[in-house]
Amino acid sequence: MAENAKHLLLVDDEAALREAIAERLGDHGFLVEQAASGEAALARLSDFAFDVIITDLRLPGVDGRAVLEAALQRYPDIIAIIITGFGTVKDAVNAIKQGAADFVTKPFQFDALLHVLNSALEQRRLRSENAYLRSQLEDRYRIDGLVGRSSVMRNLFQLLETVAATSSTILITGETGTGKELAARAIHHGSPRRANRFVALNCSAIPETLLEAELFGHVRGAFTGAVGTRQGRLEQAHKGTLFLDEVGTMSPALQAKLLRVLQEREFERVGDSHTIRIDVRIIAATHSDLARMVSDGTFREDLYYRLNVIPVKLPPLRDRRDDIPLLVQHFLQKLGTEQVPPRAVTMSQEALRRLMAYTWPGNVRQLENIVERALAFSQGRSQIDVGDFGPEIQVASAAPDEVSAWFPDEGMDLERYIEGVELTLIKRSLERTHGNKVQAAKLLNLKRTTLIEKLKRLERGPAAP
Ligand SMILES: Nc1ncnc2c1ncn2[C@@H]1O[C@H](COP(=O)(O)OP(=O)(O)OP(=O)(O)O)[C@@H](O)[C@H]1O
Ligand SMILES: [Mg+2]
Repeated sequence: MAENAKHLLLVDDEAALREAIAERLGDHGFLVEQAASGEAALARLSDFAFDVIITDLRLPGVDGRAVLEAALQRYPDIIAIIITGFGTVKDAVNAIKQGAADFVTKPFQFDALLHVLNSALEQRRLRSENAYLRSQLEDRYRIDGLVGRSSVMRNLFQLLETVAATSSTILITGETGTGKELAARAIHHGSPRRANRFVALNCSAIPETLLEAELFGHVRGAFTGAVGTRQGRLEQAHKGTLFLDEVGTMSPALQAKLLRVLQEREFERVGDSHTIRIDVRIIAATHSDLARMVSDGTFREDLYYRLNVIPVKLPPLRDRRDDIPLLVQHFLQKLGTEQVPPRAVTMSQEALRRLMAYTWPGNVRQLENIVERALAFSQGRSQIDVGDFGPEIQVASAAPDEVSAWFPDEGMDLERYIEGVELTLIKRSLERTHGNKVQAAKLLNLKRTTLIEKLKRLERGPAAP
């Protein structure tokens, strides 16, 4: 598959016309996928960054305008070409205002479409880099620096707003780099406590012996080195929010003391008998499985229930890949303006596809680092490309499905298993191309004849031993 071949989504409900155009576009080197309805187009757009979309405006159900809007919102750099009916110039004009690159009117010659397409591609190539950044992030896809437009993230934003209004204790869970601390800050900033302090304490960053004094404060002479009286983080957070990060690493003794704070809202400084009452909201976070630690006996069950009044779970990035384009835009804007002098840099669709295919063990933090690194490597150029990434991203394939590598206890028949996987993937590629074997073979990087042979052999069932 040529590196710079353009991925194109063709949306039209007229099957014969669509097939004919797809085939000819294919002859001109485009990698064409077809969608027969607006719904199918939206589904495809949610997990793949096409370079070009060509859509009929008139579609049954979800119409072409909605498809266009979704495509442009998600991929501000996509080239959209509209097919309109005769005498509907107004619709075409509206589509252009919406951000479409151009339109053709039915009936049209294939060459007219190709001409429009090629000049849009050329224009895009020449277009100034600023345009990309003008497609700023919309407010409704972010709160307090947390960016996301996937449905899980939008639900999360709603949950954060709801819980912000309360004073309930919250337990935030999620893998490293998923935004737990950002979420905690967002809750504080959305809460009636926002005028008071947000105090963060990372329980795993401070030696066990010092953690207690850090949390509760101490009086002079409480321990060797305690030269004066000091307020702890709890007191500092009075009327505000205390964020206890990595709460799973607390010792049993400290867990008991924290439980008392949660139950009685009171504590003593280390080395003191005077009881202090406080009004503080506690937000705890952990990347470990506290429920499991409870059953292993390493975390107090009663404390777990006191902390987990409202659970907030941050999804890993690999489960919401459709947020990646927006996050990339967010980081390019943020990091680009921090540069001296400020730079406006875009990212090629191929580069974006690699990012969307990667598995992201370090989640959003890793994505931010990778964008920053790519920005540094792209010195002087206005567009980041695949070559600006490290090897881990460069090898990420364009197929986001992870092969399940489940291994049964009783062992397996490896060859039959692999044949099953092959057959499934071939069938999927055929579904995606509506049975077009030439296109399916292209998607699988196979020769057409190889695909046909494989399909015949696999459908015959397992070969006789
Ligand atoms: N949804 C998001 N939108 C924008 N930036 C994000 C998002 N999630 C995380 N980040 C960024 O990723 C980085 C890590 O976020 P954060 O520190 O909140 O993660 P964490 O879950 O607390 O990680 P850890 O478990 O490693 O402490 C930060 O730079 C943060 O700004
Ligand atoms: Mg954190």
